[in-house]
Amino acid sequence: MTRTLGVLISGRGSNLQAIINAVGDGRLRARIAVVISNRAGAQGLQRAEAAGIEAICMPHRDYPSREDYDRALVSQLRARRVDLVCLAGFMRLLSPIFVDAFPNAILNIHPSLLPSFPGIEPQRQALEHGVKVSGVTVHIVDCNLDAGPIVVQRAVEVRDDDCVDTLAARILAVEHQAYPEAIRLLTERRWRVEGRRVLVEEPNTGPGRQTE
Ligand code: GRF
Repeated sequence: MTRTLGVLISGRGSNLQAIINAVGDGRLRARIAVVISNRAGAQGLQRAEAAGIEAICMPHRDYPSREDYDRALVSQLRARRVDLVCLAGFMRLLSPIFVDAFPNAILNIHPSLLPSFPGIEPQRQALEHGVKVSGVTVHIVDCNLDAGPIVVQRAVEVRDDDCVDTLAARILAVEHQAYPEAIRLLTERRWRVEGRRVLVEEPNTGPGRQTE
């Protein structure tokens, strides 16, 4: 079954582009129904339009509260029958109204090996902490920041001569592989969440759906 994706962004949209490319070249059996940005002028909106995908700007400041904004987002996504939401550099905390509307069906990508370095500037946090390995995490979103069950992680070496920009660039290249891979796992394989663990069954056991 082809899943219907909605991608939420705030800026550059390079992870969005990686997902668009993976759908375009058949690595992902999915359709991107809509891209929504909370920031006007986000480069990702242009990427969506260039790919012929509906692109909407919904500035959060137009809504009186976080909950009102999240309700509006949910209704836009539902109107397009989105069944998997991908956060791709979406710089907003989500309220339970949003998280509960898509149970186990919201993904986020974070440029560190969670639970290390959640929150902002994880590449800087990694350098300042002196870790030798950082990386990428794609996880299911729950109500806590950068905290839900982990779907895919990839390690990236931290080099002695790295600065924030060089480390971020090497991590970003790995993000672009890891996000489509995680979406592919959740859309094409059978899987379940047990506690904090996402357990994926071996291939050839049927089309991808969450098992209960
Ligand atoms: C990425 O590093 C992503 O992991 C983080 O925000 C950044 C977004 O970059 N959540 P882009 O907009 O996908 O280029």
